[in-house]
Amino acid sequence: MGRMRILVLGSGAREHAIIRALLAEDADHDITAAPGNAGIADDARTIGIDPSDGVAVASYAEAHGVDLVVVGPEAPLVAGVADAVRARGIPVFGPGRAAAQLEGSKAFAKRIMDSAGVPTGRAEVVGTLGEARAALERFGEPYVVKANGLAAGKGVLVTEDRGAALAHASRWLEHGTVLVEEFLDGREVSLFLLSDGEHVLPLAPAHDYKRLLDGDHGPNTGGMGAYSPVPWLDEGFVDEVVDTIALPTIRAMDIERAPFIGLLYIGLIVTDAGPRVIEFNARFGDPETQAVLPRLVTPLSGLLLAAATGGLGSLPRPEFALDVAVAVVLASEGYPEAPVTGRPIHGLDAASAVPEVQILHAATGIEARSMDATSSWSTEALVATGGRVLNAVALGTTFEEARERAYEALGRITLEGGQFRADIAAAVPSAAR
Ligand code: AMP
Ligand code: GLY
Repeated sequence: MGRMRILVLGSGAREHAIIRALLAEDADHDITAAPGNAGIADDARTIGIDPSDGVAVASYAEAHGVDLVVVGPEAPLVAGVADAVRARGIPVFGPGRAAAQLEGSKAFAKRIMDSAGVPTGRAEVVGTLGEARAALERFGEPYVVKANGLAAGKGVLVTEDRGAALAHASRWLEHGTVLVEEFLDGREVSLFLLSDGEHVLPLAPAHDYKRLLDGDHGPNTGGMGAYSPVPWLDEGFVDEVVDTIALPTIRAMDIERAPFIGLLYIGLIVTDAGPRVIEFNARFGDPETQAVLPRLVTPLSGLLLAAATGGLGSLPRPEFALDVAVAVVLASEGYPEAPVTGRPIHGLDAASAVPEVQILHAATGIEARSMDATSSWSTEALVATGGRVLNAVALGTTFEEARERAYEALGRITLEGGQFRADIAAAVPSAAR
C-alpha cells in the first residue's frame, strides 16, 4: 500500500490493536490517534481533539493531508463524524449517521432485519411499563429486555426473574423505548465484515466473554476477554452468515439510502435451527478485535482503504494465521458499575517481555505526582483512568499455549483492586455440539 497518513479516532484497546496492526504491516505509516491513551502515545502521535466533533476531526484531517480516517467507537459514528469527513472528500472507514442506526437503534436494526429476511429473535418494542409487562407475559422466561438506544453494554438483561426484568424495563423506559425479545439458546460468536456499501469481506470469527465473572456469572460488561479462531463453528458458518445475513443487510441499507461503509459487526447465537442475530454494531468489537487483528496476515490499511473507497469487490478474502489469539481484559475495581480510577499500574515492561504477548492499553493515562508536598520535583506515573484498563493479548499454536502466555503476562502487572476473569479460553469446545 505504501506509507499512509492515518487518523484513528478512539481511546481503547481496540484502537490500540488497530494501530499495532497498521504498524506491523508498515512501520512507516504516519499514525495519529484522537485522543488515544498512554499506551497508544508510545506507538503513535496523540492529539486532544474530541473524536465526536465532526468539524474538528474533518478540519484536522484536511489540514494534515490525512489519507484515511478510521473511526473506532460508536459514539462518533452516531454523531455523524464519518459524514463530516466524507463531505470533504477524505476516505473514512466508518458508516455515516444514518447507517450507524444499525447499532444506535435496536428497533431500526430489527426493521432492517425484517425487511432483509435476516434470522433473528422475535421482538416487541414497548413504550410503557404496562406494554412491557404484557410482552414479558407473551414471550415467557427466560426474559430478555434491551434498551433501544446506545447503552454502553449495560442495556441488556437476560433473567428468569420477572421482577428484575420489569425493573430493568422501567429503568430504561426513562431513557426511551425498550425491546422485549425472544430468548435464544446456544453459543455466541462475533463475526466482523468489512463493507464498502456493496461488497463484504469477512474477518475471522471470535468469541467474546460478556459477563464480569468466571463461569459467565455476574453482570454484562463491554467484554472481559476474547479468543479467535472459533473452532466449534461448522465449516460453512462464515459463508452462511455472509449469504443469509451480511449481504441482505447491506442491500437493505442501500435501499434505505443509508449505505453501510465500515465494519459490520454481527453478534450471533448459534441455535439448533442455525445462526440468529442478537445485535449489529457499526464498528469493530472490543475486545474481539484484540484477538482477531494479531492473526491478520493481509495488510489492514489496504482493506480499510478499499472499504472506504468502494474497492472491496476486487479483493480476495483476508487471510489469517493458523495461530490462535487470546485477549484477557484487566479492569478496575468496581467495574462495570462504578470503576475506581487514578490507581497506579506497574509491571508492564515485564508483562510485554513474555513471548508472543502484547499489552494493549484502554483506560490509561500519565499523571504527574509530586513526591511530597514540600518538594518541587515530581514524577510521572501510569494510572488507570476508567473501567477496562488494558488487555494482555497472546498468540500461540494452541489455546493452552496462548492462554498461559496471556495469564503469565497479567500476573506480572499490578493494579490495586484490578479484576480479570481467570477462565478466558479455558474450555474452548473443539466441535459443534
Ligand atoms: P447485546 O448487547 O445485544 O449483545 O446483549 C448482551 C448479551 O445478552 C449477549 O451477549 C447475550 O449473551 C445476551 N443476549 C442478548 N440477546 C439475547 C437473546 N435474545 N437470547 C439470549 N441471550 C441474549
Ligand atoms: N464486545 C462487544 C462489543 O464490542 O460490543
